[in-house]
Amino acid sequence: MKCAAIIVAAGKGERAGAVLPKQYAPLAGKAVLTYSVEACLSHPKISATFVVIGEGQEILAEEALRGLSVTDIVTGGAERQISVRQGLARAQGFDAVLIHDAARPFLPASVIDRLIEALAQPGCAGAVPVLPVVDTVARAQGSLGDGVDRTGLVRVQTPQAFPLPVIIAAHDAWSGAAATDDAQMVRAMGGEVRLVDGDIMLEKITQPTDFAEAERRLHMRFVSRTGMGFDVHRLQSDEELWLGGVLIPHHKGLAGHSDADVALHALTDALLGALGDGDIGAHFPPSDPQWRGAASHRFVEHAAHLVRHAGGIIDHVDLTLICEAPKIGPYREAMRTQIAAMLGVRIACVSVKATTTERLGFTGRGEGIAAQAVATIRLPLEH
Ligand code: CTP
Ligand code: MG
Repeated sequence: MKCAAIIVAAGKGERAGAVLPKQYAPLAGKAVLTYSVEACLSHPKISATFVVIGEGQEILAEEALRGLSVTDIVTGGAERQISVRQGLARAQGFDAVLIHDAARPFLPASVIDRLIEALAQPGCAGAVPVLPVVDTVARAQGSLGDGVDRTGLVRVQTPQAFPLPVIIAAHDAWSGAAATDDAQMVRAMGGEVRLVDGDIMLEKITQPTDFAEAERRLHMRFVSRTGMGFDVHRLQSDEELWLGGVLIPHHKGLAGHSDADVALHALTDALLGALGDGDIGAHFPPSDPQWRGAASHRFVEHAAHLVRHAGGIIDHVDLTLICEAPKIGPYREAMRTQIAAMLGVRIACVSVKATTTERLGFTGRGEGIAAQAVATIRLPLEH
């Protein structure tokens, strides 16, 4: 099924009362429109993205879409329904379309997945994301009017997904007043529109206060995760001593398959742990000769890359080295600098600590060095 997305962004945003039409207003430094366009462009099941803009909005749209490879920009009309129709006319050749309001910036990939899955079912003339109505619903007549039974009521969001011929036929057949919702047109034609779970991230920006609410949701997009790592290597007289990416002059060094930087190994495991993606041995098997003598910064950099690839952010890492000797204090700042560079974070986000074990145990006897690490990262909710 070849799917296209049509993002309608041709409105004036009068109720939002912003200086610019709301879809071009900034949210955390980026235009509202940009967010949903990026979501569509990065979704593997959407092969084209059309953006419908209002006449005279060309410069605003160009700014909002700079650097993004949208398939085409189409001029819309005075009503949303006309704007959608213009977009549909450009989507010829696709099997299905997802019609989305630019005013709903945060479009989770999981909602797109659910819609496309529903659309693939036999007899499905469309699919919409819905949320339950949880508040008491009543008529407002100056004062409080009658309550409305909310059983079976849902709030309908976008994107709304349809087979292309079905939605084109529904628009052609529609004779009612200007429609704000495409699924109702399909229903009016007798089509069965399926319901999938919506998402609170998809709330529409309509009123002036919705911008602050959207910024809040933007920060909610991430969940915090913590991972821990632990590693031990044996001290030997014929080895170099690498700790935290720093070569330390010492009469013994750490033995291991790679450069045996115990601190960086614990750190790699902490990052992988926060990601829930196995451990260092799974990513860099000791049985693989290519890691013999490898510089361990490569392991840390790989784990940091995996966090970023998942859309995540590294907030903080904290390391504890456990040994009697050498003294770590003189090398602490050098280690922090090296690790911050490997992770692409500020030095303030890297902590290096050390402790002895009061001459007890293998670390106390100087037979080996142990390291513990904790990594705190943020991942997108949908991860
Ligand atoms: N839309 C559109 N063409 C129109 C009217 C609306 O493409 N002629 C788009 C809007 O840009 C928005 C979506 O349809 O992304 C939902 O409409 P709405 O929230 O009503 O936005 P506006 O019409 O811009 O806002 P208002 O009604 O407050 O003026
Ligand atoms: Mg409107």
